[in-house]
Amino acid sequence: MSHPEVFETVAGVQARLDAVRATGASVGFVPTMGYLHEGHASLIDAAVAADDLTVVSIFVNPLQFAPDEDLTEYPRDFEADLACCGEHGADLVFHPSVSEVYPEGAGEPVVVGAVGGPLEGASRPSHFAGVATVVSRLFRIIGCCRAYLGEKDFQQMAVVRRMAADLGLPVEVVGCPIVREADGLALSSRNVYLEPGERRQAPVLHRALLAGAEALATGVVDPGVVVAVMEAVLNEAPDLVLDYAAVVDPDTFVVPEGIAGGTRIRLLVAGRLGHTRLIDNVGATAP
Ligand code: PAF
Repeated sequence: MSHPEVFETVAGVQARLDAVRATGASVGFVPTMGYLHEGHASLIDAAVAADDLTVVSIFVNPLQFAPDEDLTEYPRDFEADLACCGEHGADLVFHPSVSEVYPEGAGEPVVVGAVGGPLEGASRPSHFAGVATVVSRLFRIIGCCRAYLGEKDFQQMAVVRRMAADLGLPVEVVGCPIVREADGLALSSRNVYLEPGERRQAPVLHRALLAGAEALATGVVDPGVVVAVMEAVLNEAPDLVLDYAAVVDPDTFVVPEGIAGGTRIRLLVAGRLGHTRLIDNVGATAP
């Protein structure tokens, strides 16, 4: 168990990281909004395994919440987060205030490229601009590093990768596999909001994805048919309000016309159970 150093100011964390990099050490960075779970812990583990120093940011970013979303209710537990960072060997925790990250207010949001347009981008129109804006600021603050992001937010990861490339930031984005409960539900800080009946239905997202991947594996080449297979499974959950089930190219997020053998695709689903919005995805390659 380590005891991470906590920094609340940009100047403080930058001075520490500059000194670290001056020794030739590599920096691993795990950006989070806190309320850490085993999914975040797996990102910290990946950073600790690959880099000399691991920094975790804990910052609930107001810019990525729409006015009707759960910013004020977003779960927070800084002491537990710190303990999690320590247990997993993180060296530094960056825990800034809103004014530290946005000293002159939010300013102009970062423009998100085409990968941020469909799916989450269509359902939550200002969300990716908020994510790209905060992550660009965090990347500038942390400096040259490897950044570890979870594949659960697969489209977010693509948006962040694109943003880092477009802005020429010296950051390599490393995608890490989704961590799941035993029944398949992808870990998420928002799972705490699920009522018991909703929690029982929540694994349907993963089951739908597996059914879609299975259809693909058995020779279905029409993306529309794969989507229909997923929707049929999702319909088994009486309280799920489906947002989308989709099959896209994992790099461009464009729906392929047909799925030729050897093609990599991503299957994604999103829906609402009660007040809780859930998303999930799996990757597959056509046989
Ligand atoms: O995935 C998250 O927790 C957030 O969107 C991120 C990347 C930390 C930006 O606020």
